[in-house]
Amino acid sequence: MAVSSQVDSWRPEWYDRYSSRDTLRLARRVLETAQKHLAPESRLLDIGCGDGLLTVVLQDQCSQVVGVDKSPAMVNAARKRGCSDVREADGSNLQAAGIGAEEFDLIFSNDAIHAAILYVSKRYRPDGQMISPWYFPTAEEYREVLERNGFRDCQVEVEAVVVPLSISLREFLESVLFGFVADWADAPTQKKIFDEVEEIVGPVVCRHGVFYCENVYLHVLAYKA
Ligand SMILES: C[S@@+](CC[C@H](N)C(=O)[O-])C[C@H]1O[C@@H](n2cnc3c(N)ncnc32)[C@H](O)[C@@H]1O
Repeated sequence: MAVSSQVDSWRPEWYDRYSSRDTLRLARRVLETAQKHLAPESRLLDIGCGDGLLTVVLQDQCSQVVGVDKSPAMVNAARKRGCSDVREADGSNLQAAGIGAEEFDLIFSNDAIHAAILYVSKRYRPDGQMISPWYFPTAEEYREVLERNGFRDCQVEVEAVVVPLSISLREFLESVLFGFVADWADAPTQKKIFDEVEEIVGPVVCRHGVFYCENVYLHVLAYKA
């Protein structure tokens, strides 16, 4: 099995303009959970920190926050946003960025489950690998992954919600889903794909001009055994 490698398809300017507009609202629950577990002296690692939108919030509340992301562009954007320690690294190989997991009291990750799973599987099993970054485990499957890798008291909850987004379907396709086509389709082909998806999916997911995204959250809280 190989770790799936996508090109760096994250565009900070689009993420900032479109996607992150909804992130603070959608990430409210995971932020609150993290905040409950943080003390002023805590050290926190944010895996797949993106442009640092949540990382800076957490940075204000504890003594050390390190963000990691595999996208150089997102890492730069996080630094510009004011994150004091952001490193370019893949979730599967944090040692390469000089990060030892033992240093941290809390590992945080939002909307980057594949990066977090890579970290979990690599941390305890050097041969642990991940087939696809778009991996949708059930609660039970994810609990098993965590327990197999030395975590205890794993609380995993699936929550399916239909969320009205402040961005249009087109903006969503061009920012979030751009990564699916970035490494194999040229610009005219990308446009054609997005046009077709918009035409087919639009009538199903858009009502009165609002794009309703069917989100499935996997809320996870686990402690090191
Ligand atoms: C949807 S964004 C979420 C960013 C941020 N956590 C937030 O909530 O705004 C996903 C981020 O995960 C990063 N990422 C994807 N795969 C990764 C991996 N294997 N290791 C580290 N970061 C990864 C991407 O570069 C991207 O910045």
